[in-house]
Amino acid sequence: MYKIIDFKTLPSTNQYLKENHTSIEEYTVVVAEKQTTGRGRISRKWISTSDDLTFSILLKPQIETSKIPLISLVIGASLCKVIHKYIKCDIKWPNDIIINNKKVAGILVEGIVSNEIEAVVVGVGININSTSFPNDLIIKATSLKNELGKDISKEEILNEILSEFDSLYIDFLNGNNTFINIIKKNNYLKNKEVYINNKKIKVLDINELGNLVILEDNIEKEIYYGEVTLTNIYNN
Ligand code: BTN
Repeated sequence: MYKIIDFKTLPSTNQYLKENHTSIEEYTVVVAEKQTTGRGRISRKWISTSDDLTFSILLKPQIETSKIPLISLVIGASLCKVIHKYIKCDIKWPNDIIINNKKVAGILVEGIVSNEIEAVVVGVGININSTSFPNDLIIKATSLKNELGKDISKEEILNEILSEFDSLYIDFLNGNNTFINIIKKNNYLKNKEVYINNKKIKVLDINELGNLVILEDNIEKEIYYGEVTLTNIYNN
């Protein structure tokens, strides 16, 4: 179902699919060995080497615009399921994958929306075989190789992710939110106290809608995707 296109270098796989989404078929996966301007959420950079995996999937779902952020949780659940075959990992809502308190993968989902959804680009960066990181990331980032102590095949990981995503995404399109259970089970933030917009809150859970359930001033509230930045874990 997925058609993989490999590039030696691209500015950004997300950018490439966004710029070319009209001429490229749904379920095309663009992989870049190197990105020159890889992007993360909130205008951050995504820095990786050719030892790591950076790819984006082009989707053209017929869903409500408000559901686009859930796709971030669908791919997050897929990543976590695959990484779990090697080592325990958690999902830091809404879209970081954590091993032993360090970030191993990030997700950037972008919608191209006019009157309706034209396309959704699902970008994933996973530190696979890198063993050193820029100084400001050393205490926050890890790779599969660092955690497992051995080289991992990027191709195998990509194939496993696409196969997991294939089934969870189809479930999601059919209104079956299997991915939510995976996210809930591996919720890194559960029972943690964190800062949201400089306010200390306690995370209780993730609910059936994929929203974060928190306790703020002893009142239970829901946080919607993308509404907040969680800050006390690693300056995110
Ligand atoms: C984050 O952690 O803030 C999200 C990082 C997402 C990085 C991936 S790498 C492939 C794709 N292309 C990009 O420019 N970004 C995403």
